[in-house]
Amino acid sequence: MTMIASHIVVSGEAGTAPPEPLNSILDLARWAPSGDNTQPWRFEIINENRFAVHGFDTRSECVYDLDGHGSQLSLGAMLETIAIASTAYGREADIQRRSDSPEQNPVFDVLLRPAPAIAADPLAASIQTRSVQRRPLSMRALTREEKRALEAAVKPDFTVLWLEGWPAKWAAARLMFANAKLRLTMREAYEVHRRIIDWGKRFSEDKIPDQSFGLDPLTLMLMRWVMASWNRVKFFNTFLAGTLSPRIQLDWVPSLACGAHFALLADRVPETLMDYVEAGRRVQRFWLTADHLRLQLQPEMTPLIFARYLREERHFTQQEEILKAASPLAARLGSLLGEGLERAVFIARIGAGPRAQSRSVRLPLQKLEQQVNSQPGSENRVK
Ligand SMILES: Cc1cc2nc3c(=O)[nH]c(=O)nc-3n(C[C@H](O)[C@H](O)[C@H](O)COP(=O)(O)O)c2cc1C
Repeated sequence: MTMIASHIVVSGEAGTAPPEPLNSILDLARWAPSGDNTQPWRFEIINENRFAVHGFDTRSECVYDLDGHGSQLSLGAMLETIAIASTAYGREADIQRRSDSPEQNPVFDVLLRPAPAIAADPLAASIQTRSVQRRPLSMRALTREEKRALEAAVKPDFTVLWLEGWPAKWAAARLMFANAKLRLTMREAYEVHRRIIDWGKRFSEDKIPDQSFGLDPLTLMLMRWVMASWNRVKFFNTFLAGTLSPRIQLDWVPSLACGAHFALLADRVPETLMDYVEAGRRVQRFWLTADHLRLQLQPEMTPLIFARYLREERHFTQQEEILKAASPLAARLGSLLGEGLERAVFIARIGAGPRAQSRSVRLPLQKLEQQVNSQPGSENRVK
């Protein structure tokens, strides 16, 4: 579709809110989750029923956004949120990828069709309340009904591999604990963390507030001081076992204090942008269903990402010792997921517990609207 020149750019009119219900639908859509809260989307409003989503990815600056897949999952989550939110306003969202849009800046054209008979999706009520919970959760196992509802949320073409019971949780905790050492001692990861942590904050519009990590105040203070420079990080890690306390609090305890870990598996190995976008849509249905059931969730994506780097023999760090240490961890993840490893699109822990008190919030809609022809990922990107 190439219809950009004739678009009426409502967003260009300073201070004018988009027409309803488009304004309310976009206002909800922005609450979709994204890796590191990057919100890799901008909206171009065309008329009262049409808009375009301009996506971007962060692969060039974020070691976790391998081939842009993290951003593509996030975009999928956001498109699913548009579809769900639309039903609450008697609309059906027709979403098409613009065929000539590049992989790193994909564009999706959305038409909101009036559908007076459409039933409002009950998941719409969870769009704003769903949030990542990084603190310890209840250790009670998920009930059969909960698991059934979550499995139904990702059907068809996707299944859930549950890692439940003490042996599996123990194995996951060991993996996450060891994996955290890589994250916390790797220069490339340090650069990302430095950029995306909002220190001293309970809420953050475009980053992750430090209070959402669940660290005790002393460890948090120390981490903030240490992370001000790479030399401090190196010194602390080398001489003072600097990663120990954060790893216990960020990874070891939460990995055990949950109901289960799980992997979302695609029926076939995902390859294309649209495979990851579709996976992201299912991730969001799963996560919203969890919120609806009052279950909390925290993604645990880095072992999966590092394992793929290694499988494809791609060096993700200059530090040889980290590459060496990553290899046995990839094998450990392989033994947890079995033949599902290459089909896994999302890994997380889940359990009953209160919603997070500290969380990422979102950029206001005005900042997410863009003019025609401006490039998301350049001057419009907020980092
Ligand atoms: C694809 C993807 C990967 C993510 N990976 C992680 C992760 O490895 N660890 C984590 O704590 N949160 C992870 N998150 C959660 C995001 O940081 C979170 O969704 C974002 O900061 C927005 O916050 P909210 O979900 O509370 O609204 C991930 C989210 C997405 C969509």
